[in-house]
Amino acid sequence: MRVSWKSWLLLLLFHICNAQDDGETPITLPKEVDACNGIFLQYNFDSRQKEYPRLKNATAQPWAFKSQLTVVNTGATELKTWQAFIGFQHDEILVSVDGATILNGDSFPMKVGKNGTHLTGYPQADLRTAIDTAGDLTQMAAKVKIKGTMFGVKLGGNVMPSNIKLENEGFKCPKATTKGRQSMHVCCTKDPKFKPKKKLLKFFPRRKADLSFTYDIIQSFKGNYIAQVTIDNHHPLGRLDHWNLTFEWMRNEFIYDMRGAFTRKKDPSECLYSAAGGYYQDMDFSKVMNCQKKPIISDLPSTMKDDDHVGKLPFCCRDGQILSKIMNATKAKSVFQMNVFKLPPDLNRTAINPPQNWNIKGVVNPHYKCSQPIRVDPTETPDPSGVEATISAIASYQVTCNITKPKPKMAKCCVSFSAYYADSVVPCNTCACGCEDEDTRKCDKDARALPLPAEALLVPFANRTIKAKAWAKIKHIDLPKKLPCPDNCPMSVNWHLDSDYKTGWSARITMFNWQRRPFEDWFLAVQLKKAFVGYENVYSFNGTKLGKVDRMIFMKGFPGLNYLIGLTNGSKPGEPPVPGKQQSVISFLKKNTPGIRVAGGDGFPTKVIFNGEECALPRRLPRRSVGSRQSPVGLLPAVIIVFSTFILINFFLPSMAPFL
Ligand SMILES: *[C@@H]1O[C@H](CO)[C@@H](O)[C@H](O)[C@H]1NC(C)=O
Ligand SMILES: *[C@@H]1O[C@H](CO)[C@@H](O)[C@H](O)[C@H]1NC(C)=O
Ligand SMILES: *[C@@H]1O[C@H](CO)[C@@H](O)[C@H](O)[C@H]1NC(C)=O
Ligand SMILES: *[C@@H]1O[C@H](CO)[C@@H](O)[C@H](O)[C@H]1NC(C)=O
Ligand SMILES: *[C@@H]1O[C@H](CO)[C@@H](O)[C@H](O)[C@H]1NC(C)=O
Ligand SMILES: *[C@@H]1O[C@H](CO)[C@@H](O)[C@H](O)[C@H]1NC(C)=O
Ligand SMILES: *[C@@H]1O[C@H](CO)[C@@H](O)[C@H](O)[C@H]1NC(C)=O
Ligand SMILES: *[C@@H]1O[C@H](CO)[C@@H](O)[C@H](O)[C@H]1NC(C)=O
Ligand SMILES: *[C@@H]1O[C@H](CO)[C@@H](O)[C@H](O)[C@H]1NC(C)=O
Repeated sequence: MRVSWKSWLLLLLFHICNAQDDGETPITLPKEVDACNGIFLQYNFDSRQKEYPRLKNATAQPWAFKSQLTVVNTGATELKTWQAFIGFQHDEILVSVDGATILNGDSFPMKVGKNGTHLTGYPQADLRTAIDTAGDLTQMAAKVKIKGTMFGVKLGGNVMPSNIKLENEGFKCPKATTKGRQSMHVCCTKDPKFKPKKKLLKFFPRRKADLSFTYDIIQSFKGNYIAQVTIDNHHPLGRLDHWNLTFEWMRNEFIYDMRGAFTRKKDPSECLYSAAGGYYQDMDFSKVMNCQKKPIISDLPSTMKDDDHVGKLPFCCRDGQILSKIMNATKAKSVFQMNVFKLPPDLNRTAINPPQNWNIKGVVNPHYKCSQPIRVDPTETPDPSGVEATISAIASYQVTCNITKPKPKMAKCCVSFSAYYADSVVPCNTCACGCEDEDTRKCDKDARALPLPAEALLVPFANRTIKAKAWAKIKHIDLPKKLPCPDNCPMSVNWHLDSDYKTGWSARITMFNWQRRPFEDWFLAVQLKKAFVGYENVYSFNGTKLGKVDRMIFMKGFPGLNYLIGLTNGSKPGEPPVPGKQQSVISFLKKNTPGIRVAGGDGFPTKVIFNGEECALPRRLPRRSVGSRQSPVGLLPAVIIVFSTFILINFFLPSMAPFL
């Protein structure tokens, strides 16, 4: 009786590690584990090696490292969904993490930066007690193997993280103890003062985010399960059109069938030569939907909504459109189902591992960055038969995604500025939407965009060069030898400061669609920090103030005017193509914004969002021309008023009249 189970644990752990890691350093838990009645965490730094490139500058030198985190339940209660923090502090880049998923990251290789990283168990999320398992360490402990790169720690320097701790609610961890140069441990114990929230959650609470996926297991069999994926848009300026979703299967699963969505590739031969083909010898793979590790999934067109085999699912089949709740709450959600087949060793109804590394993309839409799936309390839905009962999913996981600002030169939309007092337009930035395909021998990716005459905005970039050159001659602007590259944006917006008088001011907004595909149900949001409170009206669009969202003015088309047509061919052969256009005037009063400097910058937006995509803004404001007209008659109207759609003329001219 003197030999405690903890000593066995040490011995056992030693053996397991020796057996599994053939040759790798075994975990030796310090004897402090004996004194731990709670959750014991240990971080062991195994080894590191200088990587290429070899640098003279020691602070920039990359090193490949291997380490291990072990989490052991040495207490008397089971720990559900363990979550730990490792305080990496050497600009680590994680290359693989085996045994856990990273909570605050996307796909590998993953930059940790200086803030450390948060992990949760995967596939082993729960740590049972010695009591319940007769000391079975495989169920009580989780081992995470980490491989990565660290920077700039000289030989003999400190390679350890700043701290490790358990992050589950209701536990307290002292600062971790470092033992020797390459090991660190901590014993986290239950916080006696911790009061669980009213509703006792078994798993993680659902988290708030701009967009979320719920992965509900609605039926589970030994070798396969049915998952229902729900996409919810929570951000007022979030949105997706023609979305493509990708994720990564980690346990050789494959998609047998789908309802409400489809995979972009269906290749039975790929299945036959995969692990699935090896195991399911008798399966007819011509019926299988997809065996890719990273499938691309898209929404079905609305014409398939009532199809008996693939449709008939609420919130499905919208051709990949997910709107924001302020546009239409019922369209802010999308649902599809898939039948997922599993492979050994997961042939067990309870062995479910949701795919990892989720990513969703639309056409001209926000850029989302998503977390890994986390087990949450099962989704409850009312019984469809009308009986007062709720149906719970077998298991539910949540993936949360937030909108990130597009990186420079990676936008999908750009803005040009013009004003009544300036002859030249400040066009969209060079390469605002990328220049991957541009030949740098022919154009300069970094040159400042050339000032343009207003009418040049109406033609595609390729046809502006002649106009820009002629304009430069008139305005005595020196042209560089190599002209700037195009902006390459499929969509652009012109903000024209139209008038500025004693009691108010106005601007004219023109949207241009440069791609053949139209934009349906478009929206445009502009941020005007100072002028926001003075917003009066937007003519011919339906405008609303969104005070809660960054002082934005939200605009969409009225019913029947919510369609921005695509690029069309010129009316005669040889004429340049004509972009789809829509235009309106927005007016402001100065009563509540004393001292506003409209031409000085306050009259230009600080953020422009089209269909959720943040547009690239010019870096300059229009410059006052010598002898410019002071009257508020702009340059653009003369050209743009000749409009392609009669609707616009009808709607737009009467409201324009006061300004002309
Ligand atoms: C060495 O590299 C670091 C990090 O990249 C950099 O900040 C520093 O300026 C470099 N030092 C020298 C002398 O080049
Ligand atoms: C680190 O944390 C600070 C403060 O919370 C935050 O401002 C910063 O953006 C974080 N850095 C990274 C790389 O996440
Ligand atoms: C998303 O943003 C919310 C706050 O709006 C934050 O609590 C959450 O951690 C973020 N999630 C990710 C994955 O960055
Ligand atoms: C929202 O979308 C639904 C489904 O297409 C439609 O029936 C409803 O009329 C729309 N509501 C509004 C306010 O546009
Ligand atoms: C299925 O897994 C559970 C726990 O993961 C285990 O208790 C059970 O014995 C397994 N069943 C089979 C048939 O392997
Ligand atoms: C979605 O994927 C298909 C096929 O790979 C591709 O043609 C399409 O452009 C993608 N759409 C988006 C919005 O990325
Ligand atoms: C417009 O540009 C295209 C592509 O450079 C060219 O083929 C076309 O002739 C130009 N049209 C006019 C009217 O300049
Ligand atoms: C304008 O939009 C608001 C909300 O965005 C909506 O409630 C209202 O009905 C719309 N007005 C018209 C005339 O469509
Ligand atoms: C538009 O022009 C392109 C080539 O310039 C041609 O292929 C296409 O058929 C034309 N489309 C229409 C609708 O005329």
